[in-house]
Amino acid sequence: MATAPDATRELTHDSAFLRAVRGEPVDHTPVWYMRQAGRSLPEYLRVREGVGMLESCMTPDLATEITLQPVRRYAVDAAIFFSDIVLPLKAVGVDLDIVPGVGPVVASPVRTLADVAAIADLTPGHVPFTTEAITMLVAELGPTPLIGFAGAPFTVASYLVEGGPSKDHALTKAMMYGAPEVWDALLRKIAGISAAYLRVQVEAGASAIQLFDSWAGALTPGDYERSVMPHSAAVLAAVGDLGVPRIHFGVGTASLLGLLAEAGADVVGVDWRTPLSTAIAQVGDRAVQGNLDPTLVFAPPEVMTARAAEIIDAGRAAKGHVFNLGHGVLPATDPARLERLTDFVHTY
Ligand code: CP3
Repeated sequence: MATAPDATRELTHDSAFLRAVRGEPVDHTPVWYMRQAGRSLPEYLRVREGVGMLESCMTPDLATEITLQPVRRYAVDAAIFFSDIVLPLKAVGVDLDIVPGVGPVVASPVRTLADVAAIADLTPGHVPFTTEAITMLVAELGPTPLIGFAGAPFTVASYLVEGGPSKDHALTKAMMYGAPEVWDALLRKIAGISAAYLRVQVEAGASAIQLFDSWAGALTPGDYERSVMPHSAAVLAAVGDLGVPRIHFGVGTASLLGLLAEAGADVVGVDWRTPLSTAIAQVGDRAVQGNLDPTLVFAPPEVMTARAAEIIDAGRAAKGHVFNLGHGVLPATDPARLERLTDFVHTY
């Protein structure tokens, strides 16, 4: 008998998103948006009233509803699971919270080998709410693929070491340069947690995964390759046997795109600062995802669509192209604009 994920695999197989990722012809460029769920949607603000961010991630009905909201509104070609890159840490017992308007805040920052050793490895039993939410979601989504995700070791390490959001990642990089044995232990620990969290999502029915290394752009190529890439590669390799496409994304990664690809990506996510044609030349025989400047939704509509057209045209040179913004939807975004952008991408 077919398991639920097998049935989902079959239903979503010929979606524009998965076809584009495999480099097969599509009748329209598929599109979804990072942070498509969230504060730009009034229906999100309504269901989140009085419920904390992490609590909403751990409540299957709520996570399911929030994930579906942008799919209903925009008819995007993929859903992204509503969760957060620090949720798996919370699930294994790390004392942290997501503070509104600030981001993840960690009560006791990680500084020593003993701090690393105190973090438990993740098992499916830590995240039963994730399995439950994704099981419900794929039943609702039918032919629309669900993207699961996790944080890459460097980006997650930055929150654990700094204790919160950081612009320069100075303490994190000080550990990388000055305490390589602590650094390696920490990144190995996070890699194991992220890989286990991705497996849970795919085994419950996610059709693709995205590894977010949002802050990798803070690194030189040499440091990335030496101290970070092996751990991100370990995460991507650990889910390779599951047979779902792996998207690898970071911000400010113009000098790292080749390495992000080599780390084991099937699709490289590109931020808006790098022309898509430049990115395509660096990633080899892989699909690309991106990369409209998220602020273009505030420009006159014809400027927004003209820039989107340039990106779709540039994407035709890639093995496959999934349209997206170059980073997440900004909270002030007017949903009517994303609706218009989605329709434009679908019909261009
Ligand atoms: O729609 C989606 O994209 C799925 C949901 C999603 C969230 N976080 C929900 C969320 C995803 C994919 C993430 C990933 C994430 N979380 C990243 C990588 C992606 C990126 O943006 O680079 C990072 C760096 C985090 C850490 C984090 N969590 C930050 C920086 C913030 C924002 C802080 C703020 O309030 O401005 C969060 C909180 C968060 N995660 C929100 C959402 C919808 C906002 C909280 C709220 O609505 O109350």
